Amino acid sequence: MESEFTQKEPNTIQRMFARIAPRYDLANSLLSFGCDSLWRANVGARVKSWGPAAILDLATGSGVLAFELKRRIPGARIVGADFCAPMLTFARRRGLRELVVADGLALPFQDGRFDVVTIAFGLRNMASYEAALNEAKRVLRVGGRLVILDFSLPNPPLRVPYRIYLHRVLPVLAGWVTGEPDAYHYLAGTIEDFPKGDAMLELLSRCGFVSCDARPLTMGVVTVYTGQKV
Ligand SMILES: C[S@@+](CC[C@H](N)C(=O)[O-])C[C@H]1O[C@@H](n2cnc3c(N)ncnc32)[C@H](O)[C@@H]1O
Repeated sequence: MESEFTQKEPNTIQRMFARIAPRYDLANSLLSFGCDSLWRANVGARVKSWGPAAILDLATGSGVLAFELKRRIPGARIVGADFCAPMLTFARRRGLRELVVADGLALPFQDGRFDVVTIAFGLRNMASYEAALNEAKRVLRVGGRLVILDFSLPNPPLRVPYRIYLHRVLPVLAGWVTGEPDAYHYLAGTIEDFPKGDAMLELLSRCGFVSCDARPLTMGVVTVYTGQKV
């Protein structure tokens, strides 16, 4: 469905997230039937296993993943970055302190500053996946890891009912919760278009990441992708 958001024009995307910010967390929990916290916990456990000292949570939004990382890895320095200041207001309320208003396509950090960069449900909204991945790679140290958590599509037989939920049910329910049904039509469209599985692994390799890996969760509703900078 064509909408004002389809071109991923940065100002339009920023304004969309600013409008849904107050109900963003509630909508996530309700519409994912609580699975979103399990997905972020999975990422948190993997990141912890690498023992990072400095983590950038890019497109941190209301800071749910950054908070999960902080809880699991209290010794690490965790920086949250997002180009939508109203979303960061909610991250600040979680007690996160290192929050930066920044565009994922032009990060205000020096090369090699982070051990891990995480991006949960953020890359899909960016105007250029390659530019964002190259920028994430730039701020990673050599040997550092990128983690992407994002929607994919479940395999049959779940795919058909899932698509009905995604395109027909979710925008209506989300419209009630957030008052922004168009934002969730946009969500459904971006999920369809976003590279999944092997396509994402190819994209990561093209951007120079190695040891790339894809792990589907919840029957493929989301996938956690990882790659390493050499
Ligand atoms: C769906 S939310 C995800 C928030 C959070 N990571 C989570 O897991 O709930 C997407 C976030 O990406 C941010 N975003 C989209 N494009 C961006 C860009 N180019 N640079 C920085 N942040 C961006 C939005 O402002 C929004 O807060």
